[in-house]
Amino acid sequence: MRYFKCLVVSWLCLGGLLAAPEAVYLSWMQDPTQTMVVHWIDEEAQGSWVYSQKVGDQEWVKTGDKIRVIENSQMRIHVVELMGLTQDTVYQFRVGEEPKIYTFQTLAADKPVKFAVGGDAYYKRDLFEKMNKEVARQNPDFVVMGGDIAYTVGGGRGILKGKEWEISRWKAFFKAWEKGLVKSNGQLIPIIPVVGNHDVRRSDKQGMFSTVFSFPREGEAYQVVDIGKDLSLFLLDTGHITPIDGAQTEWLSKALEERKDRKVKIAAYHVAAFPSFYSYDKTVSKKIRENWVTLFEKYGVCCAFEHHNHCYKRTHPIKQEKIDPQGIVYFGDGSWGIPPRIPLKASVIWYLAETRSENACFLVSVDSGKVIVEPRRNNGKLVEMAVKIGRQYQ
Ligand SMILES: [Fe+2]
Repeated sequence: MRYFKCLVVSWLCLGGLLAAPEAVYLSWMQDPTQTMVVHWIDEEAQGSWVYSQKVGDQEWVKTGDKIRVIENSQMRIHVVELMGLTQDTVYQFRVGEEPKIYTFQTLAADKPVKFAVGGDAYYKRDLFEKMNKEVARQNPDFVVMGGDIAYTVGGGRGILKGKEWEISRWKAFFKAWEKGLVKSNGQLIPIIPVVGNHDVRRSDKQGMFSTVFSFPREGEAYQVVDIGKDLSLFLLDTGHITPIDGAQTEWLSKALEERKDRKVKIAAYHVAAFPSFYSYDKTVSKKIRENWVTLFEKYGVCCAFEHHNHCYKRTHPIKQEKIDPQGIVYFGDGSWGIPPRIPLKASVIWYLAETRSENACFLVSVDSGKVIVEPRRNNGKLVEMAVKIGRQYQ
């Protein structure tokens, strides 16, 4: 028996399993029906390429791109973008020369889409993992992570512990993601990141956020993700890397104009325009309302997901800072994996329809222009009834 154990340990060491990537995770920089960005983290020099194939194919296709190495650290982040993929198709891939096989599915251009959205995630590990488990159980096509993703920067712990703390937090986040955010059929669930105040330093607007994730435009964390012909997700930066007003608002106006005929436009960002814990009169909230909410209303954004407040909220439909059945519903408020706060009372704040002190995130189903938003707790139950949104429902 002892001899057998020695053999197993030697095989693990020599066979490379101990040198396997610390974490593998998926995201997008371009069309989710035709591309996939594979990221992986390791500490040793390994090949920065991916072998991929459609499940059932004989030949592996080798694709190589770039490595990002974190200064003063052995941590390497490999990034390979797979392009020219077939929509609605299951692919399998391996990274470097590692034998482990992972799978994912490209999105379909003309089928219903289901995604989860939430923020303020990896603050407390047990809460983070509890919500991860519930989200994975819903088999979403992807997750929009609305900022304050791993609490790597700012706050007492981040300031005191510095760079190594930041690196170890991101590693722990992605390890937990790879382990937990897996569909029931074993496919990895991609993450679409949104930047929050605990993802970059306030002093110089820098941090590892832009290194661990990949964006269409380097140095900018705001983007639009188009899925099929109907759905566009506007993922914005509430001033953590790029100011709200100026270039970002100009970009948003143009991006909305270009997509004015699309049926479903949804926004997600970190700080709330209609907060459930903080004051309505805070400068950032005012700026969001003045710069973006006016554009959301002009171009028919149907709902928005906000975070940062650490409670559950749903607003009344709002238009021109009044309750209006034709208005936009704002959901939030960033309580994926952080102890929830006691929110403002909905009965005394004009725009709030419901608030709770709950860990929550949202499961969003989009089908032919109809949107259903399910507010989900981390125990398998709904916070309250699902909300139907869209012109068809009004
Ligand atoms: Fe925050």
